[in-house]
Amino acid sequence: MSKKGKASKASGKLGILLPGMGAVATTVIAGVFAVNKGLSSPVGSLTQMGRIRIGKRTEDNQPLIKDLVPVQNIKKVVFGGWDVYKDNMYEAATNAEVLEPSLLKKLKPQLSKIKPMKAVFDRKYAQRLDGKHIKKGKNKMALAKALMKDIENFKKENKCDRLVMVWCGSTEIYIEESSVHKNIKSFEKGLVENHKDIPPSMIYAYAAIKMGVPYANGAPNLSCDVPALIQLAKETDTPIMGKDFKTGQTLMKTILAPGLKARALGVEGWFSTNILGNRDGEVLDDPANFKTKEVSKLGVLEQILEPEKNPELYANLYHKVRINYYPPRGDAKEGWDNIDIRGWLNYPMQIKIDFLCRDSILAAPIVLDLALFLDLAKRANMSGIQEWLGFYLKSPQAPKGVKPIHDIFKQQIKLENTLRHIAGETLLDHLGLDY
Ligand SMILES: NC(=O)c1ccc[n+]([C@@H]2O[C@H](COP(=O)([O-])OP(=O)(O)OC[C@H]3O[C@@H](n4cnc5c(N)ncnc54)[C@H](O)[C@@H]3O)[C@@H](O)[C@H]2O)c1
Repeated sequence: MSKKGKASKASGKLGILLPGMGAVATTVIAGVFAVNKGLSSPVGSLTQMGRIRIGKRTEDNQPLIKDLVPVQNIKKVVFGGWDVYKDNMYEAATNAEVLEPSLLKKLKPQLSKIKPMKAVFDRKYAQRLDGKHIKKGKNKMALAKALMKDIENFKKENKCDRLVMVWCGSTEIYIEESSVHKNIKSFEKGLVENHKDIPPSMIYAYAAIKMGVPYANGAPNLSCDVPALIQLAKETDTPIMGKDFKTGQTLMKTILAPGLKARALGVEGWFSTNILGNRDGEVLDDPANFKTKEVSKLGVLEQILEPEKNPELYANLYHKVRINYYPPRGDAKEGWDNIDIRGWLNYPMQIKIDFLCRDSILAAPIVLDLALFLDLAKRANMSGIQEWLGFYLKSPQAPKGVKPIHDIFKQQIKLENTLRHIAGETLLDHLGLDY
């Protein structure tokens, strides 16, 4: 992280750019419009509803986060983005079937005005999509330049003071870090030579970071988490963070597992299975795309339980994650967990969780918070990996040589202390009566 400090005021308009304008993107856009019209409330968003304690415990001072630090007012936010399908945001939100048609009708004039720009896309990275609303370019560098032009035009046309970008596109196939990602030079050469290890999401990330636009990755695929783009983020003073929104099952896992570990309870097995029927589920039905998600979901428990440090409790942990595409469910996912635990004298017990969740309803406030906090970070002169935003992600990026933190309570402490730091308040260490 570069020079930190108090953030400058959130003046003027903020543009939130979303590559991938499907279920999650339309739910956040329609949601912000609905909240701004007073039709509903932004439940699940810390920037809108969360409070934070500052000062001594005896003072009982808990302002809203948005009153403590200068986050952008959502009345002064505009949305734009790209998709491989042409549908405007009213049509896309209607197709996604997340929000009630009656609510969408009330927002139709505003939603219909937002039309996706032509996407940078290649079916090699997401076979199940066949949209035709796609840019042409002689190589990946030309496509990156076309995106930069879009970004510039969007900023001018919408009179934005600042921009942020959050990838809400489909999960791309699994790619391992390779030599093309090593540094900016090799990466730019790879763009010109159409290197296969540079997927579309990385082209968007490059375009944003090159222009100093903060970038977050909501999907599990490799994107802004390669050395070249981390280096570029430092050079252009850009905050970045990836990856994979922490919503349904993994959210529950990172709430429950720290509690079991805190009480020194053993865990023998954790079997997680999901059924979902939205487009995300369809893309993840392809084994190459599922592999990306699986890797992201599996890392969580090992890091929290640390079997190598606690072999008696967790050495035999068997962790399995399945995702099944089941169209009748649409966006209303069902996530089952069976957890085999052990107590006093190794007596076995079981926990069952059946989470009837709504994927995009859980993801939308994360997109909003990531966008507003990344913009805050930029104004606080914080560049590079924003570890404090790991709170929102399944595979949080961490600086080289450091293990990412998955425990949601540790992530929360880090997030809150970063906000106190930005506000110039004393950090809480929970020692003594004062704190
Ligand atoms: N909803 C959740 O709980 C959740 C949690 C974690 C991660 N995610 C991830 O968020 C992403 C979005 O989820 P969703 O439910 O909105 O999916 P979705 O399929 O409804 O929307 C994704 C959109 O991205 C578009 N797209 C794909 N590649 C693109 C490209 N190169 N450029 C522009 N657009 C492109 C698709 O056409 C589609 O409209 C997925 O990667 C998903 O895995 C979602």
